[in-house]
Amino acid sequence: MSETEKSAKSEIPEGRNEGAVAFFRTRRSRPAKMLRAPAPEGEALRDLLTMAARAPDHGKLEPWRFIVMGPETRAAFADAAEARGRELGLDPDRIEKSVSGFRSSPLVIAVIASPKPSDKVPEIEQLFSAASVAYGLLNAALASGWGANWLTGWMAHDKPLLARALGLGDGETLVGFIHVGTAGRTPPERPRPDIDAITEWRP
Ligand SMILES: Cc1cc2nc3c(=O)[nH]c(=O)nc-3n(C[C@H](O)[C@H](O)[C@H](O)COP(=O)(O)O)c2cc1C
Repeated sequence: MSETEKSAKSEIPEGRNEGAVAFFRTRRSRPAKMLRAPAPEGEALRDLLTMAARAPDHGKLEPWRFIVMGPETRAAFADAAEARGRELGLDPDRIEKSVSGFRSSPLVIAVIASPKPSDKVPEIEQLFSAASVAYGLLNAALASGWGANWLTGWMAHDKPLLARALGLGDGETLVGFIHVGTAGRTPPERPRPDIDAITEWRP
């Protein structure tokens, strides 16, 4: 083997997963408003959660949890959010925009950061792990052929609403609502970061 062949080969490790590489190069969320039934359920859904929970987790604290929001929970959450939005004096259009996804999406999974007491792992690292779980869930769904979208909005930061409607505890944070379902076409590509603008290549 020539030196050039050797060097080209050394850049492609044996364990390279072509499917995974192609996925990460092209992954694209689908807008929640495009999502329709069917959505994953039963073992297929459990499998997505299992993939998501396979996330980096310093100290194995598992500082996160899921709420799979079935139709009744989504409808009740939309009603509670609507009432809370009015209580807060939010613009009716803004309220409608933020709750409509809970009425139209065939499945929503709330990913919750639930930090555990630890002398070793700071709370912020536990939040990083929880965000990895949300990204893992999004990617697990997309890679499995579903459409998916990570959304938050004002509701994800309103502690009284989250406590009342979803039972979040004082120390918990809503990382994201992952909407999952069947999407039609892939939306057009959006501008992606310029790697040279965000990267220092230090010797
Ligand atoms: C924490 C977080 C919260 C987000 N919340 C919203 C949101 O409320 N509304 C929205 O339109 N996009 C929101 N996004 C952006 C979309 O999830 C996503 O970035 C966009 O649709 C493009 O995704 P893609 O790069 O996976 O294709 C959020 C993203 C993150 C990471």
